[in-house]
Amino acid sequence: MNFSDASQVRRRDPSGMLDLIRRLPDMCAEAWRLPVEPPLPAVRPTNIVALGMGGSGIGGDLLRAVLYDDASVPVVAVKDYRAPGFLGPTSLVFACSYSGNTEETLAAYDQAAGRGATCVVVTSGGDLLRAARDRGHPAVVVPQGVPPRAALAYLFIPMLAVLGRAGVIRSFETDVREAVAILKEIARRLSPDTASSPARRLAEQLQGRIPVIYSSSPFLEPAAQRWKDQFNENAKTFAVWNTFPELNHNETVGWGMDETLARTIHAIILRDRAEPTRLAQRVSITKDLAFQRAAGVDEIKSEGEGKLARLLSPIMVGDMTSWYLALLRGVDPTPVPVIEELKKRLAEMEAV
Ligand code: F6R
Repeated sequence: MNFSDASQVRRRDPSGMLDLIRRLPDMCAEAWRLPVEPPLPAVRPTNIVALGMGGSGIGGDLLRAVLYDDASVPVVAVKDYRAPGFLGPTSLVFACSYSGNTEETLAAYDQAAGRGATCVVVTSGGDLLRAARDRGHPAVVVPQGVPPRAALAYLFIPMLAVLGRAGVIRSFETDVREAVAILKEIARRLSPDTASSPARRLAEQLQGRIPVIYSSSPFLEPAAQRWKDQFNENAKTFAVWNTFPELNHNETVGWGMDETLARTIHAIILRDRAEPTRLAQRVSITKDLAFQRAAGVDEIKSEGEGKLARLLSPIMVGDMTSWYLALLRGVDPTPVPVIEELKKRLAEMEAV
């Protein structure tokens, strides 16, 4: 595979996933400005719930991570048909589905509406937008026509914008601006037309191995999960993720696996540049005690000062790495026929 040959790249990536990945910074800037119609009246929620699955659900995980020590109320990401028991009239609920047709999200949204929660919908259309219009719920309508996982910014940033404008949290405008600048720089650095892209080098090493992605802190958890998801959907390969410090209480022992198994694993540790020293010490000891048996170990460091840049910077590196791995494996990064087939078969079955 010659990554500097543009026509070969186009042949292997006919739907242009590379361009969509590289557009993440522009999409963040655009998503920050998307209007919510009708506007959300002033609210003082006692909890914030983000409903969504897969590429649309990761936005809720990112929201939870960003607001963990910023919000004065609990922030919960729900990936279920069921709304949680605590959800009620004082909840603020974001129902996020790119297509607007994901049955789990639609079912949980129906329950949230039925319990009188304040609901905001984030979608490009489908049944979700129709239901929001019928109910008079505020909606952020995002641009159509990209695979949901490539619309990450559209499904995540509007929640921060809406919460900021409604006075529920501080404004993240400065954070968004910093993240956009840093993501643009990363996109340039990792591009196939730069002589040696670190993401390409990592992808080359990952061939024939199982990527195991560890976040050095719970804050970076959604980034580790996104790496896994992108290896699954773009590169069509298996991957696993976990996080420090929890993994020190179980998974670290599992590295006592057979040598032949350990030699199939490539550990990728996502490090937060603001991670507490105690977590850095844990990573260092664990590398010594367990990861020495891996086929390879790499570290990816977050960039920037603000929480958005620190979360989205490793995500950009992961998205690019999954794209390189797809092309090295000779698979088209865009289609996800297994997900489509599963949804089709479910639609043919009667819901019980
Ligand atoms: C496809 C993808 C999937 C979808 C998921 C939910 O690119 O990433 O994980 O995001 O099946 O569908 P939506 O996002 O339309 O609610």
